[in-house]
Amino acid sequence: MTVPLLELRDLSGGYDPIKIFEGVDLVIEAGESIGIFGPNGHGKTTLMKTISGVLEPWSGDVIFAGERMNRASARGSRRFRNFNYDAVTRRRMDPKRVARAGLIHVAQGNLLFPEMTVAEVLSIAPLASGGRNLQGADVHALFPRLTERRGHKIRYLSGGERQMVSIAVGLLAAPRLLILDEPTLGLSPKLRAELCASIGAIRGLGVPMIVIDQDVGFLTALIDRLYLFDHGRIARVLPKADIPDHDTLMTMLFGEALT
Ligand SMILES: Nc1ncnc2c1ncn2[C@@H]1O[C@H](COP(=O)(O)OP(=O)(O)O)[C@@H](O)[C@H]1O
Ligand SMILES: [Mg+2]
Repeated sequence: MTVPLLELRDLSGGYDPIKIFEGVDLVIEAGESIGIFGPNGHGKTTLMKTISGVLEPWSGDVIFAGERMNRASARGSRRFRNFNYDAVTRRRMDPKRVARAGLIHVAQGNLLFPEMTVAEVLSIAPLASGGRNLQGADVHALFPRLTERRGHKIRYLSGGERQMVSIAVGLLAAPRLLILDEPTLGLSPKLRAELCASIGAIRGLGVPMIVIDQDVGFLTALIDRLYLFDHGRIARVLPKADIPDHDTLMTMLFGEALT
């Protein structure tokens, strides 16, 4: 039997003291990709940040490629609330270790340094690859627009181009699992189409993904299963063959549409 790529066991988390999600159980087998769909503000990003160790899990386990990423102890050692608690308590999870293991999180929104050039950002990205190699990961073939923009500072790029840089950085880290959190949010139709094609090509390289997006058609083309996420919980899991169109899905989540 092969080990699952990612396993979440009864995971909960949030922003102290507010719990944002709980009871999340999820298994991604080797080679699989999944999508997550749900309303804004219900905890999808918070869950992703917890999987990659940016936030502390409150309870439950994150197991990546057979290795538990979190320490087993319960949360609650944060006595020095007003200090930098990373310095005085040991974290349950180390995001560097998660990335080194190959779980690469392309975060929602633009988190790039504005004064660096595209070429500079791309030149340091492979440092996160931990010696792994990803066959066919040719960033300039996948994102030709970035070749044109090599010498430009991030601050002069459009939102779509920044998103391309972020995903290219994720790819250069040679992911064993790539998390893309709302990669197409707020992009012009033209750049959005370019980006969707590039993400499809990355999937075509065999890179397993967790993709969060509001476009069900785009998701369905990439994934094996769709998780409907609602009020911090997985409300339903749909195998690819059962994923309906966008309107039907909205009705499943919210009931009858308001017209
Ligand atoms: N840094 C933060 N501190 C406190 N609350 C936050 C923070 N980021 C998000 N939240 C809250 O957590 C909830 C879930 O947000 P988020 O995970 O971003 O949802 P989604 O990705 O599904 O849109 C929201 O109510 C949001 O206001
Ligand atoms: Mg989000």
